[in-house]
Amino acid sequence: MRPPIDSGTVLITGASSGVGREIARQLAYRARTLVLVARSEDRLETLRDELLARNPTLGVVVEQCDLAQPEDVDALLDSLRRNLIHVDVLVNCAGLGDYGLYERESWSRIHQMMRVNLTAPLLLAHRLVRGMVERKRGGILTVGAAGSNSFAPGMAVYCATRRFLDGFTESLRLELLGTGVVVTQVSPGAVDTRVDEQAGAEDQVAPPPAWMRISAARCAFEAIAAFERGLPRVHPGLMHRWMTRLSAILPRRVRRASGLGAARRLRHGAPELEPALHPQPALDLAFAHVPEAR
Ligand SMILES: NC(=O)c1ccc[n+]([C@@H]2O[C@H](COP(=O)([O-])OP(=O)(O)OC[C@H]3O[C@@H](n4cnc5c(N)ncnc54)[C@H](OP(=O)(O)O)[C@@H]3O)[C@@H](O)[C@H]2O)c1
Repeated sequence: MRPPIDSGTVLITGASSGVGREIARQLAYRARTLVLVARSEDRLETLRDELLARNPTLGVVVEQCDLAQPEDVDALLDSLRRNLIHVDVLVNCAGLGDYGLYERESWSRIHQMMRVNLTAPLLLAHRLVRGMVERKRGGILTVGAAGSNSFAPGMAVYCATRRFLDGFTESLRLELLGTGVVVTQVSPGAVDTRVDEQAGAEDQVAPPPAWMRISAARCAFEAIAAFERGLPRVHPGLMHRWMTRLSAILPRRVRRASGLGAARRLRHGAPELEPALHPQPALDLAFAHVPEAR
C-alpha cells in the first residue's frame, strides 16, 4: 500500500524551514496541491513562489498557523473545510526543542513544546484521519526524533514529547492497517537545520559528532522513500541508523550511563581540563558502575 502522494493533497506542518521545507520541495513535482503550514508567512510565501516557479501546475496553499495555539489549529481546519480541501496526506514535521536544566526552563516554553510537538500532530491526525479512512486512502508521515529511544540531559521535555509521539504513531499505524491509510514515523538523529539555534542548543555539552549529521534534503528523501514503501519507521542517515541499532541492543543501564557525563557537565560545568581530555560521550560508559546511573 502506497500513500496517495501522486496527484494528492499533502499538508505539511513546519514547511517554512529545514526538513519540512525539503519535503515540500521534493513533493512539488508529484502532489496536486501542497498546503504549507508554519508561523512565518514570509518564508512560506517565498517557498510557494519557488515551488510554483519549478512546477506552475502545482496548487500551493499557504496557511499561517501557530500550532501552539489550539484556536489557530481550529482556524486552519476551518479554512480547509471552507475551501473544500481534502487532505490525502498529513506530514507532521513542525517541532521545537529547548536546551537546559529542567528546573530553569520557563513553563510557557515547556507548554509551547508540548502543544507543538504533541497536541498539534494528534489534533490534526484526529480531524483528518476519519476522512482518509472513509476515502480508503491516505497517509500520515510524522517526524519525531531519535531522542524517543535515548536519554538526553538538557532536553528532558523534548525527549519526552518524542517518546509520546512515537507510541502514538506506532499504535495508530496498527489501528489503521487494512484501511488504506499508511502511517510512518521518521526518527532523525542530527540534521543540519536551524533546530539547534531555535532550541538554544548551539553550545550543548555533548553535541552529536559531525559524522552523524546529514542534510535536511537527505532526511526528507529517506523519509519519503520509507513512507512510499509503507515502512513503519525510518532512521535517516547510515551512521545514525547503525547507532540506533546498536543502542537498541544495549541494556537500558548502559544507555542511561552514556548520558551521565553530559548531565554532570550540564549541571556543574566542564572540568578544568584540556579539551582533548574532556570525557567524550562514548567514554561516559565508564560511569556505568556509578550507582545513580543504574
Ligand atoms: N534537525 C535535527 O537535528 C532534528 C533531529 C531530530 C528531530 N528533528 C525534528 O524534525 C522536525 C523538523 O525540524 P527541523 O530540523 O527541520 O527544524 P527547523 O528548521 O527549526 O524547522 C522547524 C519547523 O517547525 C515550525 N514550527 C515551530 N514552532 C511552530 C509553531 N508554534 N507553529 C507552527 N510551526 C512551528 C517552524 O516554522 P515557524 O518557525 O515558521 O513557525 C519550522 O518550519 C522537528 O519536529 C524536529 O523536532 C530534527
